[in-house]
Amino acid sequence: MQTVLSGIRSTGNLHLGNYYGALRNFIKMQDQYNCYFFVADYHSLTTHPDPKMLHENVKNVLTEYLAAGLDPEKSTLYVQSDIPEISELYLLLNMHAYMGELAKTPSFKEKARKQPENVNAGLLTYPVLQAADILIHRADFVPVGKDQEQHIELTRKFGRRFNNFYGVEFFPEPQAFNFGTNLIKIPGLDGSGKMGKSEGNCIYLKDDPKTIEKKVKRALTDQGPTEHNQEKPECIENLFTILRVVSTPEVVGYFEEKWNTCEIRYGDLKKQLAEDIIAVTSPIRERILAIENDNDYLHKVAKLGAEKARESASKTLNAVREIMGFKAF
Ligand code: TRP
Repeated sequence: MQTVLSGIRSTGNLHLGNYYGALRNFIKMQDQYNCYFFVADYHSLTTHPDPKMLHENVKNVLTEYLAAGLDPEKSTLYVQSDIPEISELYLLLNMHAYMGELAKTPSFKEKARKQPENVNAGLLTYPVLQAADILIHRADFVPVGKDQEQHIELTRKFGRRFNNFYGVEFFPEPQAFNFGTNLIKIPGLDGSGKMGKSEGNCIYLKDDPKTIEKKVKRALTDQGPTEHNQEKPECIENLFTILRVVSTPEVVGYFEEKWNTCEIRYGDLKKQLAEDIIAVTSPIRERILAIENDNDYLHKVAKLGAEKARESASKTLNAVREIMGFKAF
């Protein structure tokens, strides 16, 4: 069976964009692949080194993974920092990663621009840690969005370089998993960009119905169409994009028609949109509320995940150490 692996950085609660962009696909993959899903807490340190929030954020992501439908029996669900083998592989891979190639990675340049006061070495070697995440289970597929393709490409490069340097065929080349038509980018509610870029444009899986109604009501709209069949401005197209994902084709068709004939009332559109988002998120939210205070359950899940992940990780690491020439006295 082929191996699938993906991680989500623990920098806050999961939102509708995480759900449709990643989680929902993870859930479907569980029956067909040997799946590893983890909370990337080390990666969160490159931008959010707040000790008060670290554990809370990990707990939220783990809880929300489970609530959305990831099954700890079917998949291996774990916390990155519970697997010391990842850190060791990261150290070893760093010896074969070059300053120049890391410094020119677009994601590094972007982060360095955003936080000029904190261009730490962890930021520079972020792709090496991500490669360690992937290579430690010798994954075949990594289901991620477009923005992560640069990191998968670097992972392939590091794996190939290792194989060539030591003259082995050890690491397979992981591919970005193609969701095909399922890869949906969920836009934010503030007119442009994707959901998650800022607080105000985000609907969290944990938001209660009142909050969702309020957020959708506040979403940016324009003055309304003035000509039949006119093109929608970005802020309106964004609302339709979310509607297409959460509503039935009939509902979408109804509002398309109202738009095309200039009869659309944004109040009605937003009411429907909020209702259909709530229908999707409510069962997840209920499970979040049931799990989040069940520390015994979360402890069990994390422990089981760590055991399974370490079993696979230690096999890889032992082989890597042997290939590189480490020997015990
Ligand atoms: N960099 C990814 C993100 O920001 C998170 C991540 C860390 C990841 N390690 C990974 C994703 C390994 C896939 C595989 O979304």
